[in-house]
Amino acid sequence: MKILIKNIKSLILINNEYQVKNCDICIDGEKIVSVGESADSFIPDYIIDGTSRLAIPGLINTHTHSYMSFFRNIADDLSFSDWLFGRISPLEDKLTHEDMYWGAMLACIEMIRTGTTCFVDMNMDMRAVIDAVTHSGMRAVLSRGLVGEGNNEGGRVRLEENLRAFTECTNPNITFLLGPHAPYTCDCEYLKIVTDTAKKHNLGLTIHLSESINEVENVQKQFNCSPIELMEKTGVFDVPVIAAHCVLLSDNDIDILRRNNVTVATNPKSNLKLANGIAPLVKLYEKGVNTTIGTDSAASNNTLNMFSEMNYTAMLHKGVSHNPTVMSADDVLKMATVNASKALHNPNIGQIAPGMCADITILDIDTPQFKPQNNLKSALVYSACGYECDTVIINGKIVMENKEIKTIDTQKVYYECEQIIKRIDS
Ligand code: NI
Repeated sequence: MKILIKNIKSLILINNEYQVKNCDICIDGEKIVSVGESADSFIPDYIIDGTSRLAIPGLINTHTHSYMSFFRNIADDLSFSDWLFGRISPLEDKLTHEDMYWGAMLACIEMIRTGTTCFVDMNMDMRAVIDAVTHSGMRAVLSRGLVGEGNNEGGRVRLEENLRAFTECTNPNITFLLGPHAPYTCDCEYLKIVTDTAKKHNLGLTIHLSESINEVENVQKQFNCSPIELMEKTGVFDVPVIAAHCVLLSDNDIDILRRNNVTVATNPKSNLKLANGIAPLVKLYEKGVNTTIGTDSAASNNTLNMFSEMNYTAMLHKGVSHNPTVMSADDVLKMATVNASKALHNPNIGQIAPGMCADITILDIDTPQFKPQNNLKSALVYSACGYECDTVIINGKIVMENKEIKTIDTQKVYYECEQIIKRIDS
């Protein structure tokens, strides 16, 4: 289908800086074919009026666990270990394949409603999430959460599940990573097996690293080094890696991340809520480490709203550094778009430009938080709540229009999620 988004303010990357420009955006099939004044020869099948609207590249959430969204607000105000091992893990053990599908669908609804078009997921049931992503029309990069010791059966089965999904999935909007969970749930031998498998299949990894004091202290005690140093020694960084959290880092850790081209997916709200601390994002950014933003799961955040996450990222690092210039709206918008496309080795997403995949979020800016229109870039990071998102286009397909998601029966998803939580938490 040919779509013309007519006369709309758009966030365009020019010389590595976002600027807001008035333009027409022409979409043909899956691609943006022109940005600027539309040619007379472009005959659209459908026109979206850009009046009082702002088009931005679809946001990219680089760390979440979509199936966990019905654990939202079920285990709050607890320590990290009480939260994970005392409350979340026992509930997870009761989940069926179908439950995880509905949890992932709820996540997709929330992400689409708040302008996210692509997400990186670590899950416990690949089929369930593949189905949810396919039914919702989103773009996703999926990994099976891998937990294992050496070559034990459980670890092997999970790795096979990750690989099977990679080889069998036919949805071109889904790509894959391998997802070793963390240094405290995967031993070094298993990490080596996973890394070798990634090399063999030309896949990257995503892993939680240096998230909590407990993790760092335990690795220090056992191996006399930091989790980041351990990963380098184990060879994990020999393949492309997206490392979630990276809250507790030494200067040497940051150098290791930089020289191995590891992307850090920061999750500020999850780290604050679980009282794990604040990642040294400014240092990472200044040292040239590719930094992106993730929400983590709705069980530890408790939203999957990238606008909220962008706001926290900017505010938090200004505050802790006592310097309001360290993290600009532009820096944060890039983390949620082009830096993420770099992390995913997918140069076709993250920007509104000719030749790119048509992943576009359109906001209704006829709202008080966007008035007066002094600086729309600032408004996106400092004023928006996320629910201004009105229309979402993914891979050239209109997934949401006038705030109505066209691909999902949202009421059915809400109902199923309420039933599941009643059953497993009784
Ligand atoms: Ni996580």
